[in-house]
Amino acid sequence: MSDLGSIAWPPAPIETARLVLRGSAAQDRAAFVELLASPEVHTYLGGPRPRDRIERELPVVPERWPGSFVVDLDGAMIGQILLRRAPEHLRPAAAGSVDLGYLFLPRAWGHGYAAEACAAALDWLDDVLPGEPVVLTTQTANSGSMRLAAKLGFTEVERFRAWDAEQWLGLRPPATPLPA
Ligand SMILES: CC(C)(COP(=O)(O)OP(=O)(O)OC[C@H]1O[C@@H](n2cnc3c(N)ncnc32)[C@H](O)[C@@H]1OP(=O)(O)O)[C@@H](O)C(=O)NCCC(=O)NCCS
Repeated sequence: MSDLGSIAWPPAPIETARLVLRGSAAQDRAAFVELLASPEVHTYLGGPRPRDRIERELPVVPERWPGSFVVDLDGAMIGQILLRRAPEHLRPAAAGSVDLGYLFLPRAWGHGYAAEACAAALDWLDDVLPGEPVVLTTQTANSGSMRLAAKLGFTEVERFRAWDAEQWLGLRPPATPLPA
C-alpha cells in the first residue's frame, strides 16, 4: 500500500477542457470558508460547521495536503476534490483504499464540472499510484453524488447505516494497464 503522503505536493496543475486542478493557495481561503460553511453543500454531510469557527481556525493556506485538489474555473476556486486513505475503522471493505470525496460550491453544480474534475483527479492517481482501487462513500439520498459516482465508474459494494442515514460504499477497480 503506497501512501499519498509520499507524493510530491502540489503536482503541476492539471488542465481539463474547462478547469484546472491544483494545490490550494492563500487566494482560495474565502472560497474554502464559503464551501465549508455552506448548509447546502453539507446537506448530506452532517451539516456545516459555524462560519465564525471556520474563519478563526482555517489556516492562511487551507487544506494543503497530498490528495487535496482545488478545482479552479477561470482563476477562481469552485470546489475541492479529496483523495485520502479511507479510515481503518469505518468499513472493512474500504479500509486502506484511497477514498474519493468532492465538494463543489452550489453555483457550480449542474454543469458537469464535478464529473470533469474527478475524472482528471482519478487519471492523476492512476499515474502516480498505479493499481490502486478507489472507494467512495455517499448517502443514498444524495442523488447528485450517486449519479456522479456512477458516471465515474464506481459500482456498489454495500449499503450500510451510519451517521443516521443510509450510506453507499462504491468501488472503482484499478485501471487495467494496456498490454505492451
Ligand atoms: C455531489 C456534487 C459534486 C455533484 O455536482 P454536480 O454538478 O451535480 O455533478 P456533475 O459534475 O456530475 O454535473 C452533473 C450535472 O451537470 C449537467 N451538465 C450541464 N452541462 C454539462 C456538461 N457540459 N457536461 C456534463 N454535464 C453537464 C448534467 O446534465 C448533470 O445534471 P443532472 O445531475 O441534473 O443530470 C455536488 O452536488 C456537491 O458538491 N454536493 C455537496 C457535497 C457532497 O454532497 N459531496 C458528496 C460527498 S463525497
